[in-house]
Amino acid sequence: MLDSLGRNINYMRVSVTDKCNLRCVYCMPENGVEHVEHRDLLSYEEIIRLGSVFAGLGVSRMRLTGGEPLVRKNLEILVRGLKQDAGIKNVYITTNGLLLPEQLPGLVEAGLDGVNISIDAADAALFKKITRRDGFEKVIYAIGAAMSYPGLEVKLNCVPTAQNERQLVTMASRFVRNTNLTLRFIELMPVGLGKENVGKSEAEVRRLLEDAFGPMTPLDSYDSGGPCRYCSLPGFTGRIGFISPMTHKFCAECNRIRLTANGFLKTCLQYNKGVDLKPFLSKSDAEIEEMIANAVADKPDGHNFTNAEDLLSDKRIMSQIGG
Ligand code: GTP
Ligand code: 5AD
Ligand code: SF4
Repeated sequence: MLDSLGRNINYMRVSVTDKCNLRCVYCMPENGVEHVEHRDLLSYEEIIRLGSVFAGLGVSRMRLTGGEPLVRKNLEILVRGLKQDAGIKNVYITTNGLLLPEQLPGLVEAGLDGVNISIDAADAALFKKITRRDGFEKVIYAIGAAMSYPGLEVKLNCVPTAQNERQLVTMASRFVRNTNLTLRFIELMPVGLGKENVGKSEAEVRRLLEDAFGPMTPLDSYDSGGPCRYCSLPGFTGRIGFISPMTHKFCAECNRIRLTANGFLKTCLQYNKGVDLKPFLSKSDAEIEEMIANAVADKPDGHNFTNAEDLLSDKRIMSQIGG
């Protein structure tokens, strides 16, 4: 499916819940979050049916997100349905890891292809400061559990800020020096509570890592068809990645659309543009395809995080979008 700029839309992020068992300071407020009512969530059957329509339009990869996707029960049913019934080639999840170890066997059995685990700290005290919850050791355990499945692609996500900048070097050393893991640094975007926090740029993180370990080398062969650029560090077996929407805008190559937990097809992370598919679920596949094609044709050229007015376009916070 091509949009009006000729971008090939083949990747979809599906948020299965806006709930989360952490409260990362740049993502969710401690209290007072209103959640989608259970009856307004798309059911797994509805997501799988939409998945088959999207697959017919050329979407071959789906990433299940949240909030925290694993707080929704029996996610393996959705993974299996998307792969076997909807015909989605690859299905991944992005998770904070807390509930991963107990669910991983069922998810892998259902055909899960990969997992991205978010971790912003190298110790339990800072983890608690950033997430407002305990759980550091559980996430560490989850990373080990994920690495024990040879066919599973495992990556770590870290949002660098003033809070964790002093632990980034330790994180790199601990997670990627002697492993086959990838640790990716994501520039904080002014979406939701991201507007009230200050992130560190790719250049700042690069400087910290290169001062500690020596010059990085780009790994062009690791291009995953996404916004991340991968690098190696001297003596490291794992990789570093940078997702830098603020300083290395990648919208011209954007291949993504998003589906919120209550069925809004969102065509750009920043803007409230797209179509609410929920009312169309009773319609034929052909009618839904038309709604999707119209929305994709109107996909924004890209974000404009420097324009104050554009920052108000979507009132959703990141946990309601799914990243
Ligand atoms: P893979 O490349 O398949 O591993 O997925 P990913 O890196 O896109 O997935 P993940 O959920 O791990 O996302 C990591 C970060 O990248 C999150 O902070 C996302 O918000 C951000 N991100 C993912 N896609 C986009 C995008 O289209 N635009 C922007 N601006 N940020 C994105
Ligand atoms: N900017 C960039 N990344 C964010 N995430 C959450 N909020 C933001 C933001 N404002 C990250 C999480 C997680 C991923 C899905 O999105 O840390 O790793
Ligand atoms: Fe939950 Fe992820 Fe948001 Fe943290 S960043 S509160 S783990 S959805």
